[in-house]
Amino acid sequence: MKVDEADTAVAAGSYQLAPRASATGREPVEDVTLDIRAIRSRFAFPRLGRVVTNNAASTQAPRELLELYRSLAPGYENVHRGQSRASQEMTALFESSYDTIAQFIGAPSRASIVLYRNTTEAINAVMYSLLTEFRDGDNVVTTTLEHNSNYVPWYGMCRDILPRMGRRVEYRLARFDPLTGELDLDHMASLIDARTKLVCCTGASNFLGTRVPLRAVRALADASGYLQPGGERRSYLLVDGAQLVPGGFVDVQALDVDYLAFSFHKMLAPFGVGVLYGKRHLLQAARPFLYGGDMIAEGRSTGSAPFPGSRSTGRGMRRAAPRWSRLTSPAATR
Ligand SMILES: Cc1ncc(COP(=O)(O)O)c(C=O)c1O
Repeated sequence: MKVDEADTAVAAGSYQLAPRASATGREPVEDVTLDIRAIRSRFAFPRLGRVVTNNAASTQAPRELLELYRSLAPGYENVHRGQSRASQEMTALFESSYDTIAQFIGAPSRASIVLYRNTTEAINAVMYSLLTEFRDGDNVVTTTLEHNSNYVPWYGMCRDILPRMGRRVEYRLARFDPLTGELDLDHMASLIDARTKLVCCTGASNFLGTRVPLRAVRALADASGYLQPGGERRSYLLVDGAQLVPGGFVDVQALDVDYLAFSFHKMLAPFGVGVLYGKRHLLQAARPFLYGGDMIAEGRSTGSAPFPGSRSTGRGMRRAAPRWSRLTSPAATR
């Protein structure tokens, strides 16, 4: 469909999306017809005459979630910190949001999910929790496709933090092909060796839109032979899913990622909730990123919880998940 034809179709209230690649492979997914009028009616911003095009940076929250947020306020009580019925109800709702999020990305259970403010904070949490595990002479491999959120933490760790602790850890960057925007896997393979503790890469580039072949990157990380403290002999794989997860179903178990970070403010949910998925044994063994209340019992969240945001995030996922899964992965409907 050409741009002018697309404009006409949008004005008429419908839009046919071309088949596209799924998140986990290159197989095409079914055609989708979008009912533009129905979609617009779910948001408040069109009434202001606004045209919003910056969805890759942040999306608008639909009315339903804003209303849910408002409806939760009168019954609000602190999560995990009260004996009252209201507090127990809020805590149960809050906890069930973790289950919804786990289901949404194919994680085995809520024990693999930690909530932070956004992708940046989730990646920093991994960096700080792994900090003391890095040995002198280790390296981290990442790519030139990264957003600063998955570049600066590792750069800072290697160039600023670890040298102060007397450890030299190298920071290695795999390049992409400027003609195609694809990650240069051969170059990445040449950078990964038996001292690569961690490979961290984006799932989809925020400036080119290209997707990284995560299965191939996983295979490279597996082959490194790096000896992790728990006895595993391979490099960990952290995926920045900030642009990948909003675009289709991502199954963390099928991809066998060790960590996945993403932000709900890029996925229609209100601001202030980001997710870190981590394999359970890694989260259990990790040093806390934030020390304080709640971490003693649970070890996964600290301080008062972002309840309304998490709850509306959970509700949003529940609405989106069945259709999303059907569109992008037959396996996801389980
Ligand atoms: C690929 C990618 N990673 C990380 C981020 C940072 O996300 P946040 O601001 O939610 O931490 C962005 C934001 O645009 C992004 O596109």
